[in-house]
Amino acid sequence: MTNFEISGDISVPGDKSLTHRALMLAATAHGESVLSGLLSGADCRSTASVLRSLGCAIPEIPTHGGEIRVRSEGIQRWSAPREILDCGNSGTTSRLMMGLLAARPFCSTITGDDSLRSRPMRRITEPLTAMGARVRELQAPDRLPIELCGGTLSAFSHRSPKASAQIKSAVLLAGVSARVAVSVWEPIQSRDHTERMLRALGVTVDAAPSDGGWLVSLDSPPEILPSFEMRVPGDPSSAAFFVALAVAASGGELVIRNVGLNPTRTGFIDTVRRMGGAVTVRDERMAGGEPVGDLVVSPGTLQGIEVGAGDVPSMIDELPLLAVLATRAEGETVVRGAEELRAKESDRISAVVNNLRALGAQAEELPDGFVVTGTDAPLRGHVRTFHDHRIAMAFAVLGALPGNDVDVEDPEIVDVSFPGFWNLLASLSGQAHSPDES
Ligand code: S3P
Repeated sequence: MTNFEISGDISVPGDKSLTHRALMLAATAHGESVLSGLLSGADCRSTASVLRSLGCAIPEIPTHGGEIRVRSEGIQRWSAPREILDCGNSGTTSRLMMGLLAARPFCSTITGDDSLRSRPMRRITEPLTAMGARVRELQAPDRLPIELCGGTLSAFSHRSPKASAQIKSAVLLAGVSARVAVSVWEPIQSRDHTERMLRALGVTVDAAPSDGGWLVSLDSPPEILPSFEMRVPGDPSSAAFFVALAVAASGGELVIRNVGLNPTRTGFIDTVRRMGGAVTVRDERMAGGEPVGDLVVSPGTLQGIEVGAGDVPSMIDELPLLAVLATRAEGETVVRGAEELRAKESDRISAVVNNLRALGAQAEELPDGFVVTGTDAPLRGHVRTFHDHRIAMAFAVLGALPGNDVDVEDPEIVDVSFPGFWNLLASLSGQAHSPDES
């Protein structure tokens, strides 16, 4: 393999999870909220457009993190939508919005694209139905499109079989919308952005280990949530692609500025360190209730590792990238306890394993994960993305490493979470192809 020196000082677009929540809570609160650093990717545009269909005045999301002001008279003033609420590719939009809509006194029909319509929804509709919402599956069991009729909800304690921030947040937001107390137990703590943001708005939310898992309890919230200011940091899941590129390089250093470092999201960074990559944090600070810092990343000799169920939630979206990086490590990388990957934008276990094999790497599917064996051989061929943004970007990083030649089908799908991805990759690797993008 020829040498590849990494060098750069970059930033990545705003955090997707925080952008969804910032828009939803600004539309729920009373007054004028000032939001900046938002992600303008397609998933967040879906949230903005669904909120507009409910009568909320959401300005267009600026493309480079500029400020918007969201004026709202509170969730009580949301109105019945005239059109179907199309959540596009965005699981977070559909699931968190169902939580907020569960206590609104009108019916909505919620749908999405082919990928979202193939993803499970009873994990959300069952607890919401138990609280008092009425749900009709319009085409297939457990799938969108769904008609959701909101109403008066009762206080509820949910025991979630999965560590999922979308399940947890849907129930917490239903509690906020209905002004009732709720609690959610999950087997392992999932990302806690909703809890942090609600606390910042004066809602009492307790969280603590319980019964071998993690229990979050929300007290009946006040009638009026105050408007707020929030500067959304860079998305650690987007930064991860460039962390991987830099640790797999043969020399140099990459700085990635203003990355969200919430400990429920940093599993990939910890894992890369365990593999032998050097990632340090500079200027760690708090912004918008979240830890933020600048990452300094340099290459290392990577070793294969094992990832188990306890590590999975904090790096759930980065596991396809880990599979790809594992081809550049010595020995085997084994991931288990990650069966949730099969219910993402695509079946990410089968997508990564089949694509790695198509490129000439050794990879094996497990029911709940995968095994990937490292190699020095060049990896070449065509990658099927299944319209999944993270599959496209993970394999694009692999293709940017010297000696490899990867043709990623459907490159524009990266706009779901990372507008500008191809240009940034091309600027750092000097060899990635760059389809038209702004
Ligand atoms: C998200 C939660 C995760 C993650 C998704 C975003 C969120 O999904 O995969 O990309 O913003 O709450 P699950 O809660 O289903 O694990």
